[in-house]
Amino acid sequence: MSSNDQSSPAVRPWESAQPLAAGHTGAATGVNICVVGGGFVGLVAAAGFAQFGHNVVCVEKNLERLAQLKESRVPFFERDLEELLRRNTEAGRLSFSSDLKEAIVGQKVIFLAVGTPSLDNGRTDLSALVEIVNLLGKVAEDGQIVVLKSTVPVGTGIWLQKKFPQNGNGSRSISVVNNPEFLREGSAVYDFFYPQRIVVGGDNQAAVEFVANLYRVGMTRPVPIVTTNNETAEMIKYAANAFLAMKVGFINEVAGLCDLVGIDVLEIARGIGMDPRIGAEFLNPGPGWGGSCFRKDLREFSGLAKAHDYPLIIAEAVLKANQRQHELVAAKIERLTGSLEKARIGVLGLSFKAGTSDMRDSPAIPIVQRLLEKGAEVVAYDPQAHTEAEHYLPTIELAENAVEAARDADCLVILTEWEEFQALDLRSISEVMRKPNLVDARNLLTPEVVRRYGLTYEGMGQK
Ligand SMILES: NC(=O)c1ccc[n+]([C@@H]2O[C@H](COP(=O)([O-])OP(=O)(O)OC[C@H]3O[C@@H](n4cnc5c(N)ncnc54)[C@H](O)[C@@H]3O)[C@@H](O)[C@H]2O)c1
Repeated sequence: MSSNDQSSPAVRPWESAQPLAAGHTGAATGVNICVVGGGFVGLVAAAGFAQFGHNVVCVEKNLERLAQLKESRVPFFERDLEELLRRNTEAGRLSFSSDLKEAIVGQKVIFLAVGTPSLDNGRTDLSALVEIVNLLGKVAEDGQIVVLKSTVPVGTGIWLQKKFPQNGNGSRSISVVNNPEFLREGSAVYDFFYPQRIVVGGDNQAAVEFVANLYRVGMTRPVPIVTTNNETAEMIKYAANAFLAMKVGFINEVAGLCDLVGIDVLEIARGIGMDPRIGAEFLNPGPGWGGSCFRKDLREFSGLAKAHDYPLIIAEAVLKANQRQHELVAAKIERLTGSLEKARIGVLGLSFKAGTSDMRDSPAIPIVQRLLEKGAEVVAYDPQAHTEAEHYLPTIELAENAVEAARDADCLVILTEWEEFQALDLRSISEVMRKPNLVDARNLLTPEVVRRYGLTYEGMGQK
């Protein structure tokens, strides 16, 4: 799927971050960097560092994906990424390869950004990383810095460091640094250039500083850089994701209660969010959080704690509450339609959030599966995620636009907060639906406006 069909803001996030001459920070530009893994995290880092003036080679083992990247085509939708890739490839600062052994020759820093999914037992599958590490153990060069950008279990950095005995094996000295990633899909490029903080952890202070300086050289405004040890950097990432998932889970839970007692959750969110100890962000009720990270990271975090005989009561409850959220949305649809048996449900939005085509762990998957299990027929429209939908929800019908998804439907449900759903053609929608029911699981629309078109509206925790 191409990323060039959604208009981007006039000012690109990197426009004030043109490659700099070494200077204002004292940090070096033009550092040779290898990024292993051309996914969401690896590609953004590779293109971002190239924009800072470093020389980057990105190693991707999926040959189909590699062929696309060599033509500056991004295999998923992420705003501005394709343009950033193209600019830096054309400028000769960014290239792609599938040959890791060859690609690491002469590099100063090797970022590892491969996937670290969950195993069945909830702990982390490190096999992609282990494969690379086995090779690096043999071929990494003296003085290289290996950076774990992937989210990795606490202890991985130290384990990896032991693979490179300092000055063992001849006189090789290789440092392992953790630099966890905090980008948000949908604004990942912006987040690279304007991060809220950068975390760099390791035992070798010179290596930690070197990695921090790779960022400093391109930053146009001061960014807090947290330097620490490997395990702390690893734990910061898990604690951050657990907290964020908890925050969303909390407001979702409050929304459920608001539904029952007839109070508007949006006013509650406003009223509590003004307290700086709480903060207004991430207080939007929805169909449940999703994406490739929260669930797997919460499971790893809980697994680590359990291994120390200290169950994480809150983290486990957050996982459970999110499942209930999917059930609540499906139940709202069922209530409005009377029965789901043979009901036709139009779904607007499949990606786990707006701004991305990523459907990994999207709440749309369990919600749609519930509807299907209960005998409903589902037709969905998403501005970017149809290719992904064919993989994750192969039995549903895909519509060309929102009105077509609504045609003959007994209920229309908004699952992703895409901007275009804020401006739905409600007149046409109400005309083509079999029964005029709308579940707005993102509270995107104004209930009074929707009702004006004769639709029965149900949001999340709105009176
Ligand atoms: N996606 C996010 O929003 C996000 C945010 C923060 C942290 N993270 C973490 O970053 C890591 C990567 O996540 P992602 O979403 O970019 O994953 P991804 O699955 O999109 O990308 C991983 C890429 O690595 C490639 N790869 C695997 N093994 C390889 C090898 N041996 N050589 C070369 N390439 C190889 C895969 O083909 C794939 O393209 C994970 O640990 C994740 O938890 C992700």
